[in-house]
Amino acid sequence: DKGIYPYYMLKEVDEQAIVARTLSQYYFDDEGQVQNIAPEIIEAMQAADRIYIVAAGTSYHAGLVGQRYFEQWTQTPTEVHISSEFAYEQPLLSKKPFFIFLSQSGETADSREVLDNITKQGYPTLTIANVMNSTLTREADFALPLLAGPEIAVASTKAYTAQIIVTAILAAAVGHTPFDLKNELAKVAVEMQVIIDQKDTFKSIAESALKHRRSAFYIGRGLDAAVAVEAALKLKEISYVQTEGFAAGELKHGTISLIEEGTPIFALLTQAKTAGLVRGEIAQVAARGANTVIIAAKTLAKKDDSFVLPGVNELLMPLLTVIPAQLIAYYATLDRGLDVDRPRNLAKSVTVQ
Ligand code: F6R
Repeated sequence: DKGIYPYYMLKEVDEQAIVARTLSQYYFDDEGQVQNIAPEIIEAMQAADRIYIVAAGTSYHAGLVGQRYFEQWTQTPTEVHISSEFAYEQPLLSKKPFFIFLSQSGETADSREVLDNITKQGYPTLTIANVMNSTLTREADFALPLLAGPEIAVASTKAYTAQIIVTAILAAAVGHTPFDLKNELAKVAVEMQVIIDQKDTFKSIAESALKHRRSAFYIGRGLDAAVAVEAALKLKEISYVQTEGFAAGELKHGTISLIEEGTPIFALLTQAKTAGLVRGEIAQVAARGANTVIIAAKTLAKKDDSFVLPGVNELLMPLLTVIPAQLIAYYATLDRGLDVDRPRNLAKSVTVQ
């Protein structure tokens, strides 16, 4: 039930802070130890020499973020694959692979095809999904719930943030984090709410940057590039503004020729190591007439930036950065008079290959 909300998407965006809090309560005890992850999962992952994350769409984008957690906190090389590609072009696998299937619905046919193939090859599998008792959770060796509550809007929002949180907690359980993850996630939940409460800002950004526009770009480096592809998918799938998300350093290798007077470029700037470079890239597109909208972390922000994100651990910034993107997509779509929850040609759960 949508309750007071005009659309499920807005309700589900709003629920993200609650989901973050629920997850940290479910997965950590009072001492900050990870619980509710079966020791068998942790042992199987510790025995693996490589982790393969397989998913589609938004879940694939969450995998691009989760990859960093597995690599940095468990020291295990981690690859992320699009399920429809992996299904018919299986890469050469390592000797002891471990497979993670990320999915909101647990029914995505492309991912089921891969799970089928991998099960036949006898490798260990884990599904992380929002719908427990779905095909992907039933057919994998192990399953973990996202606990995001039902997601009705076609555009995935809270499942994405829940997937990032659960992969972070799993990586922390398999390896170790150099900071207190439970504490930091509690901080993230508070800051998510702070951003969610600034809807008017995103409404006016959406209306001023995207009105009558047919194309847009999201750029960033590192984790911001990972969020950029999700941000672009959110905007294009519901507003029909053709949007590309990609690594900011790639602009100069071709795409910059698309920039015209007024082209909206949303720049995500949360990673200290590359912030200077991204500032340079922003200046280059601005010099060619782009309308730049800069969404920057507090420690990296400048006076004229469009939105300043609260500061949390850099690796967890995607949990905050994605919220402005979700809300900008929502308000741009509303402004066009389109049905936010039911974009044309799309189904909530894609059960055909
Ligand atoms: C985009 C979206 C889709 C799904 C994709 C995978 O907003 O929702 O891209 O993420 O179809 O679906 P699941 O996660 O159910 O496997």
